[in-house]
Amino acid sequence: MEVDLSNSVKFIFVLKIIMEFHDGSLHRFVKFWIATTITLFLVLVLASQRWPPLDAMMPSPWRATKQNSRNSNEDAQSNFAGLAELLPMVATDDRTVIITSVNEAFARSGSLLGLFRESFFAGEKIDHFLNHLLVVAMDPMAYRHCRTVHRFCYLLPTTKTSMDLSSASDFMSDAYVALVWTKLELQQRVLQLGYSFLFTDVDILWFRDPFRHIGVHADMATSCDVFSGDADDLSSWPNTGFYYVKATNRTVEMLRRWRAARRRFPRNHEQTIFNNIKHELAGAGSDLRIRVQFLDTARFGGFCQLFRNDMARACTMHANCCIGMANKVSDLRDVLGQWRNYTVMAPAEKMKAKAAGRSFEWRVPAKCGTPDKRP
Ligand SMILES: *[C@@H]1O[C@H](CO)[C@@H](O)[C@H](O)[C@H]1NC(C)=O
Ligand SMILES: *[C@@H]1O[C@H](CO)[C@@H](O)[C@H](O)[C@H]1NC(C)=O
Repeated sequence: MEVDLSNSVKFIFVLKIIMEFHDGSLHRFVKFWIATTITLFLVLVLASQRWPPLDAMMPSPWRATKQNSRNSNEDAQSNFAGLAELLPMVATDDRTVIITSVNEAFARSGSLLGLFRESFFAGEKIDHFLNHLLVVAMDPMAYRHCRTVHRFCYLLPTTKTSMDLSSASDFMSDAYVALVWTKLELQQRVLQLGYSFLFTDVDILWFRDPFRHIGVHADMATSCDVFSGDADDLSSWPNTGFYYVKATNRTVEMLRRWRAARRRFPRNHEQTIFNNIKHELAGAGSDLRIRVQFLDTARFGGFCQLFRNDMARACTMHANCCIGMANKVSDLRDVLGQWRNYTVMAPAEKMKAKAAGRSFEWRVPAKCGTPDKRP
């Protein structure tokens, strides 16, 4: 029935055109035909040149995200092969993945990766997080080391590592700076694939569940080198060695702008550039308005602000403000020892100490050059 009806409508339409043609002169028909052809030709030419008028009329975050999704399709073929297949195996049921990265020097036996993994077993019921940890290896040897101790290892494609990163540990070397930006690219890819992530440097020990302290409102939660005392205050100095990002279109755009900002400043780490542009991304005047939560160094501690830390509250401890692999390993091993001594204390003993006003402070690291080392 429907087909018949539409056919008869078409028939009437064609009949009408024929009648008009008969009514009007041939001259008028030719003029109409030429005009139609020219219009069609113009439409085709414009369509073939990625003409952007619709995009340009959209508010900028959405516009950029649209462009981004086109790039992401291109990325999918050339970048980070195998990542999309790995993530569903590693992620939690709410699509969150914990990521760390290692080179050969970090991953070899007796080095940082072993210590890092050990802390999950020494911590308070957090070893299950290892099932959601993706270790990104920067070179084939790091990957081999990783595979001997951990289930989920991902070797960065060689297209991403043009330089030898296997021993990059000099903080400002070209190789090291290249590495941190590659990490950021991978993180953007993870978000584009729809996974939230918690990135943690491998020179961080874990003691307690960090997710308890990340607000549901936060697009991003970051640890700090220096914490101002207010979780919303952009004047804190973020340390992107430990930070969480929720997967949304806005955070994908944040990562894109962050990576793009690298060109506007002298050569530097992703963390410094983030600090430079944090107001553009999260300030009151920002179009993106990323909600950043700064994590208290009392819980997410580091050697930079050790005086704030208390084992009774600690979630993590970062060997920041520390130069040299051997120094890090040595002082972190000592931190893990202190933690073990703390955890074996009987609860009653802890209560008594707490009631007496004693806090469980970490010792000042022996080897790391902590700026707040008191005389
Ligand atoms: C995010 O972007 C994708 C791709 O552009 C789009 O399909 C999706 O609807 C967007 N989501 C939201 C919540 O706007
Ligand atoms: C742990 O406690 C033991 C016994 O009191 C002590 O000898 C050791 O030095 C402590 N370890 C650390 C790393 O503080």
